[in-house]
Amino acid sequence: MKLLFERSTPGHRHTLMPEPDVSAPALPEALRRTARPHLPEISEIELGRHYTELAKQTHGVNDGFYPLGSCTMKYNPRVNEGTASLPGFTDIHPLQPASTVQGALAVLAETADLLAEICGMDAVTLQPAAGAHGEYTGLLLIRAYHLHRGDTARTKIIVPDSAHGTNPASAVMAGFTVVSVPSNADGGVDLDALRAAVGPDTAGLMLTNPNTLGLFDPNILEICRIIHEAGGLCYYDGANLNAVMGHVRPGDMGFDCVHVNLHKTFSTPHGGGGPGSGPVGCKAFLAPYLPGPLVREGADGYELFSPEQSVGRVRSFYGNFLVVVRALTYMVMLGAEGLADASAHAVLNANYLLKRLCDTWSVPYGESCMHEFVIDVAPLKAECGVSAMDVAKRMLDFGIHPPTMYFPLIVHEALMVEPTETEPKDELDAFVDMMEAIRTEAHEDAAKLHDAPLACAIGRPDEVGAARNPRLRYVFTDEA
Ligand SMILES: Cc1ncc(COP(=O)(O)O)c(C=O)c1O
Repeated sequence: MKLLFERSTPGHRHTLMPEPDVSAPALPEALRRTARPHLPEISEIELGRHYTELAKQTHGVNDGFYPLGSCTMKYNPRVNEGTASLPGFTDIHPLQPASTVQGALAVLAETADLLAEICGMDAVTLQPAAGAHGEYTGLLLIRAYHLHRGDTARTKIIVPDSAHGTNPASAVMAGFTVVSVPSNADGGVDLDALRAAVGPDTAGLMLTNPNTLGLFDPNILEICRIIHEAGGLCYYDGANLNAVMGHVRPGDMGFDCVHVNLHKTFSTPHGGGGPGSGPVGCKAFLAPYLPGPLVREGADGYELFSPEQSVGRVRSFYGNFLVVVRALTYMVMLGAEGLADASAHAVLNANYLLKRLCDTWSVPYGESCMHEFVIDVAPLKAECGVSAMDVAKRMLDFGIHPPTMYFPLIVHEALMVEPTETEPKDELDAFVDMMEAIRTEAHEDAAKLHDAPLACAIGRPDEVGAARNPRLRYVFTDEA
């Protein structure tokens, strides 16, 4: 496919700008360009075709099934876009006086209240821009809490070995050292290892429940008790909240602090990198450290304030406001019953797939799951050399976005499947049929799978090269 600059033809235009009615100020010579900027010259129809062609080469939830584990790629109701496009929300400025943006502040306050209720927390900041950013923010609260009590020895954060990679990364960024605890044979936290890991240097624990194997840890109350008795705090990675919202609350499980991925559970489109939102909720004793500004209702309406011992801002202004508008729309449209129903169906869909696949594929952790489960492709690899990567790449030819691969790390040939609640049964059945077709192919023609995908614009890119040496901009011939 040609890039925009390669489509450029001198003289082609797509905007008719009126003549300016002010004269351009003379720029000092030193500030002037020495060469014309490289701008694509392209007509409106060519531009439209370029982006349509690009769009056809991507895959989104509107194209087909997207069971990307731990990412909750559910359908995002269009009504969310409608409210997020209202001029009263899009045409305001974050520095406007509070009295002129009372509606926007009400959105922030109401969203924070609903999230606090759903998570069993007392206060919420909407500033963090993603889940990992929320983790970092929550850990800053935990650090501030220990330091304000003069307890400088608490430098370690305990993280199970099934954790998402952002957990240890956030802990290190927040100034902690990470202690990894192993999983037990059932995929939960090994309690003996946890007991051995805690001590006077324990600042806290980070845990997602259900975990990245799609399993709800039945020992959760005991896990939180062990951490609290050691003087640490418990942080809930809420990326998997889609499995439990409306049924059980992290605050009631014993957690002190939590982040929620609005772009997953509360339905904002999030393929392709954002924008996201990772609000952080906490129990009252951590609220004084929350990043400001927060919104509260005062005598003259909603007002912004910063908690006195705040860890400071973690992002400009109030976070990704329009993502918050989408999330509020989603929560209000579904209501308490609807949210609980969404979780119940997410769990039902995952279990339906698990049950239909577990006779032919290895599903190492249990006969039931929460909202996702992990297939281990290792036995197939041993039989015919076909890896999780080969299976995932072949799915692209069937118009299906592959599940998350090679994660969690404790399953070496992992495919982590999260169908979400918005997929109809037909789609789940088609996925099972496709998995069977791929299994058959693996036994009959493994080489075909090593070359997959066969019908996509790009086959097997150098993924490590793309990550390590990304080419992020076009190189013009006169620059080469
Ligand atoms: C379990 C878990 N925790 C944390 C994160 C981080 O969230 P984000 O990608 O919004 O930074 C993810 C993202 O996939 C996740 O699956």
